[in-house]
Amino acid sequence: MKIAPSILSADFANLERDVKLVEQAGADYIHIDAMDGQFVANLTLGPNVVQAIRPHTKLPLDCHLMVNTPEKLIPAFARAGADIITIHAEATAHIHGAIQMIKNENISAGVVINPGTSVDVIKPVLGDVDMVLVMTVNPGFGGQGFIESTLGKIQELASLREKHGYHYEIEVDGGITHETIIKCIQAGADVFVAGSYIYDDENPAAAICRLKDACHNAV
Ligand code: DX5
Ligand code: ZN
Repeated sequence: MKIAPSILSADFANLERDVKLVEQAGADYIHIDAMDGQFVANLTLGPNVVQAIRPHTKLPLDCHLMVNTPEKLIPAFARAGADIITIHAEATAHIHGAIQMIKNENISAGVVINPGTSVDVIKPVLGDVDMVLVMTVNPGFGGQGFIESTLGKIQELASLREKHGYHYEIEVDGGITHETIIKCIQAGADVFVAGSYIYDDENPAAAICRLKDACHNAV
């Protein structure tokens, strides 16, 4: 069980402080949401921000690209210090080739599906990826409500992994709280992204502890 705080909800004027704070509180990955204003209706962080954060944490940088034709940005994110790059199946006509591009950078490669996309779409690449990210909200903004109908896809991915001996981590992203995390862990998820639940709390370290406790109690 891994906790990946999303810095989308951090204080952008104090990113170094907010990254160090969650690292000291026991976070496992730093989740970085890149949005292009096209694939989603919001504009956020690019490779320059990844590069700026890189010297300030030892944690893996988990870069979630909500951009059209992510192939164009994969080399820049890799050079900036990304350890994991996840790309949306809906954002490219060439998901297999784009996954290979990430792997050729010698970093971890992941595929993401929106709430309205089925697992069937990504079945051909499940043997190639290190991570599958199941969006539990429609991407674009922090602070949205968890979509329950995504739980079946987490279960499906967990059983496909077992059946075929795949090695991917199952990550969930959106609306994660100390309550929804229990449903996700019971469905088979391994990595939990949380933005507003952590950074909107007056004590982000305590929020991370609550998420970890909820995980431990759920298994
Ligand atoms: C949503 C982003 C998420 C977002 C999650 O498009 O991919 O990573 O930061 O925020 P919360 O945890 O507030 O739902
Ligand atoms: Zn994300």
